[in-house]
Amino acid sequence: MNQDLPRLHRYPFEKLAELKQGLQPPAGLDHIALSIGEPRHPAPQFVVESLISHLHQLSNYPSTRGAVELRAAIAGWTSRRFGIDPDLVDPEQNVLPVSGTREALFAIAQAVIDRGDDPLVFMPNPFYQIYEGAALLAGADPVYLDCTADAGFLPDFDAVDDKQWSRCQLLYICTPGNPAGAVMSTQDLQRLIELAFRHDFVIASDECYSEIYPDEDNPPPGLLGAAAQMGNDRFERCLAFHSLSKRSNLPGLRSGFVAGDAAILSRFLLYRTYHGCALPPATQTASAAAWSDEHHVIENRARYREKFERVLGLLSATLAPQPPQAGFYLWPETPLADTEFTRRLYAEQNVTVLPGRYLSRAANGRNPGENRVRMALVAPLDECVDAANRINTMISAL
Ligand SMILES: Cc1ncc(COP(=O)(O)O)c(C=O)c1O
Repeated sequence: MNQDLPRLHRYPFEKLAELKQGLQPPAGLDHIALSIGEPRHPAPQFVVESLISHLHQLSNYPSTRGAVELRAAIAGWTSRRFGIDPDLVDPEQNVLPVSGTREALFAIAQAVIDRGDDPLVFMPNPFYQIYEGAALLAGADPVYLDCTADAGFLPDFDAVDDKQWSRCQLLYICTPGNPAGAVMSTQDLQRLIELAFRHDFVIASDECYSEIYPDEDNPPPGLLGAAAQMGNDRFERCLAFHSLSKRSNLPGLRSGFVAGDAAILSRFLLYRTYHGCALPPATQTASAAAWSDEHHVIENRARYREKFERVLGLLSATLAPQPPQAGFYLWPETPLADTEFTRRLYAEQNVTVLPGRYLSRAANGRNPGENRVRMALVAPLDECVDAANRINTMISAL
């Protein structure tokens, strides 16, 4: 067996299931899950119809590179969204469709890491656990960059010395972040690009929450826009990962893309050809339709805005969560240890949240997820409101 397999950590939801074991929530209250980041707004009907009406394409093998129509739709979206000259985002060279960003975020480490060179892979802490597993199975050591409230929930890059940077081969960033929703500015991103050139590493920017933000006039910036603005118009060392899962409420479609540095993407395509992760033809056609429409995305944001307004108002006197800059999570501090808070909330109110410590590692003296919980406002408005009221009831009984 692969010697690195035992290095993988248990997934947060396994730990959560164990934490809840043996607890008996009140039978009269329906269960509300705020723990899982699975969008629950309806999938856009036109995408569903496109998928159904193209199912006859099942008799063809799809190409890993993806159909030209899909790559053109992705390139067009990327240049419009991030204000990049359309000539710079070449559908032939700068984009690859992926079967959901999860597999691609994992696979990129397998393609770029040189395991013979004592590699380090940097990532935020707390983090999406795929980054860590990807690093471990690529034979690298993860370096966890704590994202604390003091640093605006962004990774503390100043804590990294030149010696560590010199061993960095891949840096994962997540902007807007999961779980705190912190957004990196264009200046932050440009600083990282400079570091990537200085120390010869690749930046994998996970931007799967970039389309869920409160202010229509202020969308979060992305890595490729930052690169183009500083004159790195070939996106050297830069890869951005985008997903239809959260943007378009299509987590079951398994569709996203990676865009950026053509030289890295051509080698990643070689890797992916062997890996065997081409999107089914009908998925590709439906995805092209989704990337070409913004109406449903604007509508989606309006729904989240309404939920955040209501829930933040209700929780203001108890957990008082900070409104996230983007994304659909709240990341409040808890009046009890996060695990105990989670257990009691489930046992007393049948509401499940995710203990913060399950999303992070105690790598630098303390676990930055401790005494926080992640709450995903994915359920319909009335369910989210009900959950907030139950949280208040539980806290007032403490
Ligand atoms: C931070 C982050 N990145 C990536 C993903 C993967 O999304 P998908 O594989 O559906 O594109 C998720 C899913 O929850 C996530 O939270």
